[in-house]
Amino acid sequence: MRLLVLGGSAFLSREVARQAVERGHRVTCACRGTSGPLPDGVRHVAWDRDQPPPPDLGQDHDAVIDVARHPSRVRAAVAALPEAHWVFVSTISVYADSSVPGGTPDTLPLLDPVTTDEDPMSSPETYGAMKVACEQAVAAGAASSLIARPGLIVGPGDPSGRFSYWPERIADGGEVLAPGSPDDAVQVVDVRDLAAWLVDGAERRRTGTLDAVGPVGSRGAVLDAIATGVGVPLRATWVPQEFLLEQQVEPWMGPRSLPLWLPLPEHAGLMAHDASPARAAGLTTRPVEETARDTLAWLRATPEPPRTGLTRRDEAALLAAWHSLRQ
Ligand SMILES: NC(=O)c1ccc[n+]([C@@H]2O[C@H](COP(=O)([O-])OP(=O)(O)OC[C@H]3O[C@@H](n4cnc5c(N)ncnc54)[C@H](OP(=O)(O)O)[C@@H]3O)[C@@H](O)[C@H]2O)c1
Repeated sequence: MRLLVLGGSAFLSREVARQAVERGHRVTCACRGTSGPLPDGVRHVAWDRDQPPPPDLGQDHDAVIDVARHPSRVRAAVAALPEAHWVFVSTISVYADSSVPGGTPDTLPLLDPVTTDEDPMSSPETYGAMKVACEQAVAAGAASSLIARPGLIVGPGDPSGRFSYWPERIADGGEVLAPGSPDDAVQVVDVRDLAAWLVDGAERRRTGTLDAVGPVGSRGAVLDAIATGVGVPLRATWVPQEFLLEQQVEPWMGPRSLPLWLPLPEHAGLMAHDASPARAAGLTTRPVEETARDTLAWLRATPEPPRTGLTRRDEAALLAAWHSLRQ
């Protein structure tokens, strides 16, 4: 297959390009080349997608895998390559309501599209609404298409630190502040499994719209699996969300945050999508233990890895405050 990856220099799109080369495909990566190195064995076409497509982009691609967030970039690429099968990497942030567990693309309403190019980092809603417009541009213009809506993508190379916090924290041992309840839902997908499935989707010219998510686990089971993966027993103190919110701990990511935690009930659906349609369409996921082990190995081999979450000092202070409240 002649595969065009629109990206290739960052986390997911680099893994897509790497695996496609490994499978023997002829892979072109079109991007500026500023986000990081491209995998060995690809042809790089330098393209800033705010400019017209360069002549050496070529027209003979069987499939395209695109991770863009800006509607104009997707519209321009689809118009330039109308014959190719398109695999578009969207997001579960396209949904208007994240409170409903067990949702699928057939049951969950979408945000209204934002067709202009805004800053996708300005808010989750802007990011999601722009992705809705990107999806629509693909559906309207591509010869055929698969729309993949991933949930939280994790594993080695994750630039967000949103999962990495936990393998590193649990591997350090001691009393671990665990947020919310052990029964809360947690759902992740390993970048390597997602990339493999996206390349499959290009090879098979799979069509449709699917939430590209792994199985739902309880937070207790996921933290236990991470502990098994990193080989250190978990000594968790579960602290309810009300206390964390009172103490101004941020959910999800950022300074003074607890990753893999979102306030309930308003976000009860975000890490609880129905994984069975994607599984039926061939998305297989490795055990969390393996993701945790490999993520920790990557963190330890990386001089200054991306980190988010509580500092050890903040965590200790919060645990002390929680214990003193309960005395
Ligand atoms: N991380 C998650 O948990 C999560 C969850 C749901 C969905 N997603 C989706 O998953 C995908 C992740 O993709 P990713 O990991 O490869 O990282 P990304 O940050 O979404 O994409 C980066 C790629 O886009 C290229 N790019 C950026 N600006 C460009 C421009 N002006 N012209 C040409 N290329 C440009 C970058 O190349 P250069 O900078 O080198 O040009 C890089 O290769 C995204 O679609 C994201 O929305 C992520």
